[in-house]
Amino acid sequence: MSESDMRRARDAAPAAPRHVAIIMDGNGRWAAQRSLPRAEGHRRGVEALRRAVRNASDLGVEYLTVYSFSSENWTRPKDEVGALMMLLKRFIRNDLAELHANGVRVRVIGAREGLPSDIAPLLAEAEEITRNNTKLTLVVAFNYGGRQEIIAAARALAQDVAAGKLRAEEIDAALFESRLTTRGIPDPDLVIRTSGERRISNFLPWQSAYAEFVFTDVLWPDFDRAAFENALAEFATRERRFGGVNAINQKTAS
Ligand code: FPP
Repeated sequence: MSESDMRRARDAAPAAPRHVAIIMDGNGRWAAQRSLPRAEGHRRGVEALRRAVRNASDLGVEYLTVYSFSSENWTRPKDEVGALMMLLKRFIRNDLAELHANGVRVRVIGAREGLPSDIAPLLAEAEEITRNNTKLTLVVAFNYGGRQEIIAAARALAQDVAAGKLRAEEIDAALFESRLTTRGIPDPDLVIRTSGERRISNFLPWQSAYAEFVFTDVLWPDFDRAAFENALAEFATRERRFGGVNAINQKTAS
């Protein structure tokens, strides 16, 4: 390979991902393996989340999005839903000061409607207090569903068209994105799912159109620094083409 080919290949290799999104799966199985209640698995899941925030920051990641509660999770037993709500409240109450001190900006994506009345103000407060922080943006997907998000955006645009504020021909990807709850957040470069499952489960379907996926068998409560580094190392081996051709073929073709 010539020097310039090597340079092109290096340029095509992805740098450290700017935005990592994680489907934190396997809390229930982690607990079952130890004959513990599922809620204990979720509690240990919050500890893994704290670790992941610290590691993301250390490893130069700028945005970390975590799937904490999906629109479909309401179908879980009432006790488990209650435990997850309580963990979110505790996480915001107990960890906000430390997150803020470490320069973490908190953003919450997902539908605010249907949440218990004491949760929405807590989320708004966390976003408000940390809004000027720049070290890492922690995006908490709570009551989030990708299809629901896309439908809400389509409905809002349709209403604007019906009201004569917008022409249908003006709708493009940028305008559509501006109506998603992720507006202003760059698309994820890397989506990690723990616990061996290989599906995206309605998590960021629009935003992850060109993301790389890494699936690991590690259960979420066991996701540590080494597991994070392994996922980043796998990402570094991928060649991202965004629908184009790779750098070397591009040279041959031109
Ligand atoms: C999947 O494990 C995990 C969830 C449904 C919730 C993820 C939640 C946390 C990590 C803790 C909560 C964090 C916040 C910020 C509130 P699972 O229960 O589906 O595991 P299983 O597939 O092994 O049963």
